[in-house]
Amino acid sequence: MQNFKKQTALAIERAIGELMPGAPLTAREIEDFLEYPPDPSMGDLAFPCFRLSKIMRAAPPKIAASLSEKLADFPLGTAEAAGGYLNFKVSPDYLVSHVLAAVEEAGDSYGSSRIGEGKTVVLDYSSPNVCKPFHIGHLGTTVIGHSLKLLHEFVGYRCVGINYLGDWGTQFGKQIVAFKRWGDRETVEKGGCDELVRLYVRFHEEAEKDPALEDEARAEFHRLEEGDAENYALWKWFKSVSLAEYEKTYKQLGITFDSYNGEAFSVDKVPAQIEVLKEKGLLKIDDGASIVDLSEYNMPPCLILKKDGSTIYHARDIATAVYRHDTYGFDKAIYVTAAQQSLHFAQLFKVLGLMGYEWSENMVHVPYGTVSVDGAKLATRTGNVVLLKDLFKLSVDKVKEVMNEKNPDLKNRDEAAEAVGVGAIIFNYLYNSRIKDINFTLENALSYEGSTGPYAQYTYARTCSILEKAAAFDPGGPDGRLTHPSEEELLKTLSRFPEKVSEAIEGYEPSVITRYIIEVCTAFNHFYRDCPIVTAETDETRTFRVRLTRAAKTVLGTALRLICMKTPEKI
Ligand code: ARG
Repeated sequence: MQNFKKQTALAIERAIGELMPGAPLTAREIEDFLEYPPDPSMGDLAFPCFRLSKIMRAAPPKIAASLSEKLADFPLGTAEAAGGYLNFKVSPDYLVSHVLAAVEEAGDSYGSSRIGEGKTVVLDYSSPNVCKPFHIGHLGTTVIGHSLKLLHEFVGYRCVGINYLGDWGTQFGKQIVAFKRWGDRETVEKGGCDELVRLYVRFHEEAEKDPALEDEARAEFHRLEEGDAENYALWKWFKSVSLAEYEKTYKQLGITFDSYNGEAFSVDKVPAQIEVLKEKGLLKIDDGASIVDLSEYNMPPCLILKKDGSTIYHARDIATAVYRHDTYGFDKAIYVTAAQQSLHFAQLFKVLGLMGYEWSENMVHVPYGTVSVDGAKLATRTGNVVLLKDLFKLSVDKVKEVMNEKNPDLKNRDEAAEAVGVGAIIFNYLYNSRIKDINFTLENALSYEGSTGPYAQYTYARTCSILEKAAAFDPGGPDGRLTHPSEEELLKTLSRFPEKVSEAIEGYEPSVITRYIIEVCTAFNHFYRDCPIVTAETDETRTFRVRLTRAAKTVLGTALRLICMKTPEKI
């Protein structure tokens, strides 16, 4: 769909071309200059003419006036000069014949596009470290990553979502020692990750008293690396116990992955890349370890192999990137992790570039800030962490309490409470621009008022119940027209959805969609407050308002699903 902004930019391009053949600005560039006026009474879009004054050798107000003349028959609305600005106002006819019609025609694909067609994006997200709890720190990578995947799919990319499990490293030596000394199968089967974490924490406590345990752990890890059957079986089992638990959380979030190839999968692919590093003369020995010196690029050295020759995080990431490029031929590779890993990825991309892999230019790190819960920073390793499953449960239980009170006859209560309870946390998290450090408060997240998930889902459910009521006696009838400013405001808001999708993708920023959802909810709720729908004065108005309601439902539903939210019809 060509949206109002695009169409306006095209018209301006044409008008400038008429004034100055060989127009100095393309529609694409003009689009970036277009602004939303702070006061809507000034218009819906404004084009500042200041930039043109040098090229066109005229004062901005004069350019604005000449452009407005050229645009006298602008079919989508009006174009008026005001000082150095050209102010556009969309016509009510356009809103109905284009925006509403476009939503109705496209349905759930309204807002999508085909810009990604034929291209592949590989997304590395969630990627927890096996045997560790899945805590609130993982919420960011999991929901930002999945939302970016959904957004890219929405505009036509083929997407490969990879959960790059942290399933390799010396910590598995410690885990094995701890299990062999203090663990037993049954307790781990029953206790899952919590029990594995307990054993791991115990290892650290005991190792403080008895440092020899560290050597024992190194030896066990070495045996694992050599393929020792017992240790390999243990490692595999730890992994499956952890995964079973993570999958419960993914299920609650409605998230699936295309691949679970973790770090271990890449270990045997490292030697070939070591050869490339050597061929290119990049590898240096520093105190026994192999490194790539990056001082020329103002970065600390990138560690590749330890003294004993075993691989480290960077080495595995290098091999993994090459494998992914060979396997998926990606046009873009996205990594979503906490901002603490920004240096890791800057080094990784640089080293890949130095190795001669030109495609490293197409790799993007998408960092995000820290989360604290009710003021308490999350501590790892100590076992003192807020588990995501606990937070979800707390939230879902609270929602159930509210539902019991507010809507005791609700039929699908468990399902709805789950959607609202989990959704509240996702929404609250994705409302902030990702790089911001946030403090999470369940009470705020669960409020039915303000910019929250429950408010958004409640508004969606409201559209559903209006449509249900309307279906009973909606006689169809002739199309109506806009009769109230709130109807107009709603359609204008809906018209911005395609733009928001592009903006979210360009900035790797799902919060653009989350905030937009609130704009749609606000516009819809104003419309609902101001305009009787099922009880409208005439059949014509009722039919028209039902159409508006349906369009709002469509856009809200799509937008919510793009940020991993469920959309129950009744809550
Ligand atoms: N497992 C890592 C962690 O929990 C995140 C992995 C990110 N992906 C990557 N390719 N390095 O910190």
